[in-house]
Amino acid sequence: KADSLLFSPITTKSVTAHNKIVVAPMCMYSAEDGYINDFHLAHLGAFALKGAGSIIIEATGVEPRGRISPHDLGLWEDGQIAPLKRVVDFLKAQGSVPGIQLAHAGRKASMGSPFAGYRVVPEEEGGWSQDVVGASDIPFDEHHAKPRALTVDEMKEIKQKWVDAAIRADKAGIELLQIHSAHGYLLHNFLSGNSNQRTDEYGGSLENRLRYPLEVIKAVRDVWPAEKPFWVRFSSSDHKNVESFSKDNNGWDIYQAIEYAKELKKIGVDVVDASSGGNLPGISYPAGPLWQVPFSEIIKKEVGIATGAVGIITKGTEAESILKENKADFICVAREFLRDSAFPLTAARELGVPVKWANQFERAD
Ligand code: FNR
Repeated sequence: KADSLLFSPITTKSVTAHNKIVVAPMCMYSAEDGYINDFHLAHLGAFALKGAGSIIIEATGVEPRGRISPHDLGLWEDGQIAPLKRVVDFLKAQGSVPGIQLAHAGRKASMGSPFAGYRVVPEEEGGWSQDVVGASDIPFDEHHAKPRALTVDEMKEIKQKWVDAAIRADKAGIELLQIHSAHGYLLHNFLSGNSNQRTDEYGGSLENRLRYPLEVIKAVRDVWPAEKPFWVRFSSSDHKNVESFSKDNNGWDIYQAIEYAKELKKIGVDVVDASSGGNLPGISYPAGPLWQVPFSEIIKKEVGIATGAVGIITKGTEAESILKENKADFICVAREFLRDSAFPLTAARELGVPVKWANQFERAD
């Protein structure tokens, strides 16, 4: 075990994960009124039973209009704490670190799930297309609702909702909090000049575009227990110019993402999860195995902050190499977990190391 980095424990603040595999957040579009239920318990529970070190529960709305779809999870009211705690307690009892991603969808809200029809959900079907908000009044594309630009007072109210949701996550026993500032949702909407055309102190220069996301993240950091891991996921580029490392001066690129990560480190963010894209329609990403790992690598080197690598990482040997080459601290995996909920076990077999999994399964290894 000692010679596998992937299957060695990792400690962030007071929390130790028994391996470096993280289930990346994945919307399941299966909640009612934001409440977590048995679907999520079975879905997420399987990963805990089968050896995931950490599990980050899907994008969870800090307010109802901050959901991507009417069936997203939410943490905007106290009643949502107890059902979440039930799932969290199970994940923890199986030895996984329970995490959650708090989110606000911004201009990409009120959409149908991919399987129920990708379109704006109208009011009569539980949508809120008339109350979609963003940094500016520019829609994502013709399939999305036209957002209303937030006033500074409304931005303060939403910031408070992030804070309140983080306090609820703590009460539910969540140990790892991730802020969603990726994929074109509200915070990314502010970060990128491709979507933020404000003329006040929250738009224009990079410093101005970083202002609101940093205010929100700092406010959450201030209430999130100092001893619990605090992650931020961001998009490392809008890919406006396709090549991962091309410049997009007034938009959003890896060079600006590095500056953002430096500020996040100053605020006390422990780990950044380096994703990309999602803020512009019609972009063809240069996607392939390990394609986003260079973002994690450069951020780790330039900023000196722990990172999670994500994106088409499907093999134990690949994950092990990423860690050996010091390109990331955590390996975040999404779709491979849907295909193979025992991904840690598969990876461990590939690497020839034993993996911790449910005691009940011990004789099957
Ligand atoms: C996602 N992804 C995602 N990302 C995120 O930050 N919050 C979320 O709630 C979701 N939801 C989601 C649902 C589903 C069904 C998929 C497949 C993906 C993106 C995901 O976390 C990950 O970054 C990408 O899927 C790339 O990693 P893989 O799938 O190549 O390992």
